[in-house]
Amino acid sequence: SGVRESANVSTQGSAGRLLPSEATLPEPFVRALPVPRVLAPVRTDGTTEYYEITQKAGNSQILDGPKTPVWGYDGTFPGPTIVSRRGARTVVRHVNELPVPVSVHLHGGRIAADQDGYPTDLLHPADAGQGDLDEQGEMVARTGARDYVYDIDQPAATLWYHDHRMDFTGPQVYRGLAGFHLVTDDVEKGLGLPEGDRDVPLLIADRSFAADGSFLYPSTDPTLTRTPGVSEDYMSGVLGDCVLVNGAPWPVMEVRAVRYRFRILNAANARRFRLRLQDGPAFVQIGSDQGLLPEPVEQVRIDVAQGERFDVVVDFSGRRAGDEVTMVNERGSGGTAQVMRFVVTGTADDPSVPPAELTGLPELETLREADVVATREFTFRRGGAQAHGLNLWTVNNLAFDPDHVIARPRLGTVEKWIVTAQNAEHPFHVHLGAFQVVARSGPGGGTRGWKDTVNLDNGGQAELLVRFDGHRGKYVLHCHNLEHEDMMMMANFEVV
Ligand code: C2O
Ligand code: CU
Repeated sequence: SGVRESANVSTQGSAGRLLPSEATLPEPFVRALPVPRVLAPVRTDGTTEYYEITQKAGNSQILDGPKTPVWGYDGTFPGPTIVSRRGARTVVRHVNELPVPVSVHLHGGRIAADQDGYPTDLLHPADAGQGDLDEQGEMVARTGARDYVYDIDQPAATLWYHDHRMDFTGPQVYRGLAGFHLVTDDVEKGLGLPEGDRDVPLLIADRSFAADGSFLYPSTDPTLTRTPGVSEDYMSGVLGDCVLVNGAPWPVMEVRAVRYRFRILNAANARRFRLRLQDGPAFVQIGSDQGLLPEPVEQVRIDVAQGERFDVVVDFSGRRAGDEVTMVNERGSGGTAQVMRFVVTGTADDPSVPPAELTGLPELETLREADVVATREFTFRRGGAQAHGLNLWTVNNLAFDPDHVIARPRLGTVEKWIVTAQNAEHPFHVHLGAFQVVARSGPGGGTRGWKDTVNLDNGGQAELLVRFDGHRGKYVLHCHNLEHEDMMMMANFEVV
């Protein structure tokens, strides 16, 4: 059928190799768009909301045939959505009932280093037979649980949480370990943006399927895959031929002829999307990775790299019942050229107001070159380090080493980072820091506002003004092509 992307065009535009599905893929635009459940706190006191999530295996009806085994937060893909108020403390107890160690990273969160989901800061499964050493050097049984404490003091933004285990982030996220974590504040609440069921998070990711319905993925860990071994396919980044939104293949959403807010997240391992609304209005972008823009910007198409978020308003007013608007991916072909469809079912009241001026917070002021205290250069390329006879993906020719720190920015300062991509496109992501893009080669529009992730074309470069606030400690910067990241394209910096 026309939904299959053929393998020989799979590398078009993206860094990665396509693994064609062995299972029959469903018809597009049949399945209703699921919306991840908003997690309720298990308890609340004056300042803190307490949540609990169990990481476990589950089964998801994605194909029309066999169910797909997933590893999910609470057993679902995507996991439940957490909503935090700015200024409050959020404590999430994660219980690991998976057969592998995990690490939970809050992507975009400006949080303490020991809560950030450092790649070797692992939460092991509960295991009576093994233990960890406590501070006195005594062996203690692994409980399989830990509390992540998030003191959220950052503007309203669409954040997400996902697995970050060193060397295995790609396969563990591919299996389903990803969900939304939204931050809200009074500024955002006062804007009259679409709310409730008209504020819809969209987690977009591609997957391929084996004949038995399981996710198809090559990996170095035999418990994670049917085809172990580091192949060139795996090295480039894994591309699927089926596009899932909130875990459903090419779903359809019924909408009224009113304004909606969509929080678009590219949670794919290796695929960059160029989204456009066919037969529809332009996107009105209101927010970026780290929160609201100063004012809305109309964009006909948006390039969304892995890890990036685009917060948009789409105005369906003026459309009639039966009208269809299809979200397409201009970088895909066949099935991956389509994402999802909106079908207008009729009119309704719209209490939202058109987005105008969005923020006025001093912390959202533009960073200035004059504030720059240091300039650093980072080159993301393939080569400079090897393992198993393969050239690795590196940062400044170094393979990731948890003990090696390549930069020590000072707390509260602004630095200029010049980031260059070679041998493939690389989405650059920095933990803790928030940056503004002052120059970048390549298309996209993914350069506005405060960001934590920016796409770099193959051969491209970006100049970023980065600020480090709130916390000292060791964090990572890395490529958000998850296979590149797992094949060592990551480095430590330490805020001092
Ligand atoms: Cu979305 Cu370091 O990750
Ligand atoms: Cu990369």
